[in-house]
Amino acid sequence: MATLATELDLPDLSWLDDPSIPHEEHRRATSEAAEEHWLVRNIFGFTVLHYDDVVAMLRDKRWHSASGQILELSGIDNPEWLARRRTSILSAEGDEHTRLRRLVGPAFSPRHADALRPYMREVVNELLDPITPTGTADFAVDFCEPYPIPIICELFGAPKEDWQLFSDWATDIFRIFNGNLEEDMPAIIKAQDELDEYVGALIERRRATPSDDLISALIAAEDEGDRLTHAELVSLCEAVLMAGTDTTRNQLGCSVSLFAAHPDQWRLLADQPELAPRAVEETMRYFGTVRGTGRFASEDIEYRGVLFPKGTFLAPNLATANRDGSVFAEPGSFDIGKEPADKPQLTFGSGNHYCLGAALARAEQQEALTILAKRLPDLRLDGDITWKPSTSGIFGPEHLPIRFTPT
Ligand code: HEM
Repeated sequence: MATLATELDLPDLSWLDDPSIPHEEHRRATSEAAEEHWLVRNIFGFTVLHYDDVVAMLRDKRWHSASGQILELSGIDNPEWLARRRTSILSAEGDEHTRLRRLVGPAFSPRHADALRPYMREVVNELLDPITPTGTADFAVDFCEPYPIPIICELFGAPKEDWQLFSDWATDIFRIFNGNLEEDMPAIIKAQDELDEYVGALIERRRATPSDDLISALIAAEDEGDRLTHAELVSLCEAVLMAGTDTTRNQLGCSVSLFAAHPDQWRLLADQPELAPRAVEETMRYFGTVRGTGRFASEDIEYRGVLFPKGTFLAPNLATANRDGSVFAEPGSFDIGKEPADKPQLTFGSGNHYCLGAALARAEQQEALTILAKRLPDLRLDGDITWKPSTSGIFGPEHLPIRFTPT
């Protein structure tokens, strides 16, 4: 007989859902809990802490993505706002999700991502040119913040003069994760409407004159006569802007902060740029920007003798799973030179919602870290880092002061 999850005697980590808790404390408390428990309570339901359980739950399609429920979870009941909610690839499930992945998957292949590498190098160098002679920078603001925008625009085939528009839309749409929805919703809705209109017009232009960008590839995507509708194309572009911007910039911020604290590893990367792919996996394992995700039970689910009733909210904790000693040797040491584990780091997720942009995100980070290590070989911290609130779904530095020898 399975025990009802709510009847288990579990540690309660709800107090960690207070945004003022420093992130080091967050890390310490979840790591300590993971030493003894695979399951703990959080403010909405439960958190799963160990690698194998996290993977098992992310691969079990009865656990549905909670990304479509963010309004309810935030206590929003405004019917007008709830009615605007649309299914996107991030929240779709079942046949609908399988169909979307089948249609769009090929456009996000490593081959497509690799084709953008020369452009990524150009963007990295252009961002660094005004920084290197100065000897100091706020790396989060001067580099991470702008870096993903030109790349997403290039992916969409949007011109340079529209970069700022994309940047502003991304900032406003991301307010959805700031925990202040009552106040932020009007700005979020305005940005969504403007982006919809812009992307809608771009799609019409590409229908008339195809190019070699993502939108043309998605318009042409076909599987046994099936194609994406106009509304699905718009929704997908919005999902890509949402999922591909803040993640990339914050991951790079986390990674560079980590290297600044481990100068031997930074020198190793500068001396051996061929270690860049390993450096990306190791930084994402040791300090991933996405530290957890959300699922809810679409039916009663039994797992490890525990019954999770339909509707139960569950947070697979990717950060503790990435430090699970049964999978990663010496999980608490950061070393880009060591042999990779047999299993992958989980900051891109796992299962059917595994990050669609993983190949692109890997390429973006590999290119950026390689050039950064070469051009700023003695990069070090130049003061305290200001971190985003520890409850941020996509975590990283708001300000990352660095110093280096000017060139
Ligand atoms: C370092 C950068 C990135 C990280 C850490 C990251 C992480 C993730 C994670 C953890 C998920 C799964 C969420 C879940 O299971 O609930 C996900 C999904 C997704 N990501 Fe990424 N991502 C990154 C970059 C990108 C980029 C560059 C793009 C697009 C160009 C992208 C597009 C997507 C999309 C569309 C999904 C939804 C897939 C689905 O639901 O089927 N991501 N990402």
